[in-house]
Amino acid sequence: MTRYTVTAALPYANGPLHLGHIAGVYLPADIFVRFLRLKGEDALFICGSDEHGAAITLRAKKEGVSPQEIVDKYHQLIESTFQLFGISFDIYHRTSSALHRKVSSDFFLTLHKNQAFVKQVSQQYFDETYQQFLADRYITGTCPKCQNPDAYGDQCEKCGSDLSPIDLINPKSTLSGLSPILKETSHWYLPMGDHETWLEPWIQEGHLDLNPQHNPKEWRNQVLGQCMSWIKEGLKPRAMTRDLDWGVPVPLPNAEGKVLYVWLDAPIGYISATQAWAEKTGKDWKPYWKKTEGKDTKLVHFIGKDNIVFHAIIFPILLKTHGEYILPNNVPAYEFLNLEGDKFSTSRNWAVWLHEYLEKYPTKTDELKYVLTSIAPENKDSEFTWSDYQQRVNAELADILGNFVNRTLVLTHKYFDGIVPEAGELTEGETMLIKRLYEFEPRISELMYAYKIREAQQEMMQIARMGNKYLADEEPWKKVKTHPERVPAILNTALQITRELARMAQIFLPETAKKIYGMLNLPADSWQSTVARLQPGHGISPAEILFEKITDEMVEAERQKLQPTEHLTNPKFPPMKDLISFDDFTKMDLRLGKVIAAQKMENADKLLVLTVNTGIDERTIVSGIALHYKAEEIIGKSVVVLMNLAPRKIRGVESHGMLLMAENEDGKLSALVSERGFEEGPTIS
Ligand code: MF3
Ligand code: ZN
Repeated sequence: MTRYTVTAALPYANGPLHLGHIAGVYLPADIFVRFLRLKGEDALFICGSDEHGAAITLRAKKEGVSPQEIVDKYHQLIESTFQLFGISFDIYHRTSSALHRKVSSDFFLTLHKNQAFVKQVSQQYFDETYQQFLADRYITGTCPKCQNPDAYGDQCEKCGSDLSPIDLINPKSTLSGLSPILKETSHWYLPMGDHETWLEPWIQEGHLDLNPQHNPKEWRNQVLGQCMSWIKEGLKPRAMTRDLDWGVPVPLPNAEGKVLYVWLDAPIGYISATQAWAEKTGKDWKPYWKKTEGKDTKLVHFIGKDNIVFHAIIFPILLKTHGEYILPNNVPAYEFLNLEGDKFSTSRNWAVWLHEYLEKYPTKTDELKYVLTSIAPENKDSEFTWSDYQQRVNAELADILGNFVNRTLVLTHKYFDGIVPEAGELTEGETMLIKRLYEFEPRISELMYAYKIREAQQEMMQIARMGNKYLADEEPWKKVKTHPERVPAILNTALQITRELARMAQIFLPETAKKIYGMLNLPADSWQSTVARLQPGHGISPAEILFEKITDEMVEAERQKLQPTEHLTNPKFPPMKDLISFDDFTKMDLRLGKVIAAQKMENADKLLVLTVNTGIDERTIVSGIALHYKAEEIIGKSVVVLMNLAPRKIRGVESHGMLLMAENEDGKLSALVSERGFEEGPTIS
């Protein structure tokens, strides 16, 4: 048994969770932990809200409330969303707690005592209106490397460069929008360059686990690549404190108005969360973190790719300099998930919000988990679309997995009254198939230990595919007439496949696994019982449908709901009507006519009765334009007439055709009139 401390990046409590967050951190971490627990490993799963930093204070400013109100609101929403989705944290803590303040200040003091920092005075940008120093996201300007005009003081999101406010061209305060002045301040810096000598070999090989059974041989390529390029550029000193009034106060004398850098305090949040868990459960937290008590503990950080430097370079430096802590064993980082052809964006409202999905489809958690794992951005960015969601749920979960389980159970009820039949003699093919069946588990385990979660899930689906094909080949519904003696073996085999499928589904599709175990009338399985078979004579429960098909209407509704804020159609104008074909258009006979007489229709506010010379005839047209044109205004005008509209009686007067009008945003109509003084008669083309 190995002890694992598994962390998932603490989400900023400044907004709800969307599918991008889930696919690239929380879901894979949860699947990994479920797997470890089934394997009988000692796994502790840690997370919580990241409640400090500019992400919070700037959001508070935008919403016009205090930072505390922001974190209270979103911490609660995020925590309950994780719970509804079935993310199985052992604890979901928060960095605004008193415990975290204590743990992170103590950690800082130990670092200080160990001379981790260099105190330095420097000139920094300062917003005179707001009387505040401007670091990180408080300052924007043009990126010196790629000319992106909206780079932040700590990073350019366009080219990924790591920046300092001084690097920005034409810097502006995010608070006032004004150009800042320079002002002197002092901070505690982490001289990261001093650590390169041990860091580089440690990243390259130091984490290698020599037990190939239990660990990947190396970190993901993207993680190694990013770390090496940082180190190659030379690690620059980074300030570990900030001049702000929101955060953990710097626990040193003469440090009024200074707080810990959010990227120092947040990862320590993993440790304080573990301590909170220990207090709650009466357990010991130290074996999960400390070298003396937990030398062989594997610390694993699940993160998004924008967090790599903090987890693979800065936090390891802090842990090592502190002295008492283990270093991460692996940092599985995920690339980004896109949505229907564009980046997820909270500010542009281009997102599928998890809490909204769960509210609308509370029973479809496994469907979403399955799709997100299938497209998990393990090695490269990937994309979520609703039609792909529909396709995967319908063609894979419903048609393969659901269909196989359902047919097996329904046929067992039909032919054997729901009692597992005696297998009797198996064919050679069936013996092979059973052997292959029990080879899935070691293969899935190997993939899981190597963080290849997407592939591991595909292997689970292979079990269902195998079962589906087996039933289709054997056709027990036909053999029941032609070779009835074969049917018990076929259904016994299909039931053993179903049971093994449920066992593996516990990793990826926990609700589905529970349902299958329920139908098989078995307690949720223990992972270890590989060879335990469903015994003949065992009674099963009724079959139920596992997955409903996703309808086109649901896909359409979800697509409609995606409205990026900048593309919202002007609500003053009605939406465009359905497309028509060119042929539809050419059916219309449009001509210029001249109004030669006009008269208000009696007892109708809106109607004028017009006589129009169209070149081929003089006809009567009743037109609803009386609020826009007086009779005498329209007489003599050339107008566009739809000639071949079927005649219609309006208030007793037969109308032949229609005048074309356009409506402006106030609802005012104006006739499409000839400006050039054409004679009446010509066709419009
Ligand atoms: N809140 C950060 C983000 O969303 C992640 C913090 S991870 C931690 O990018 F390690 F710092 F906690
Ligand atoms: Zn840039």
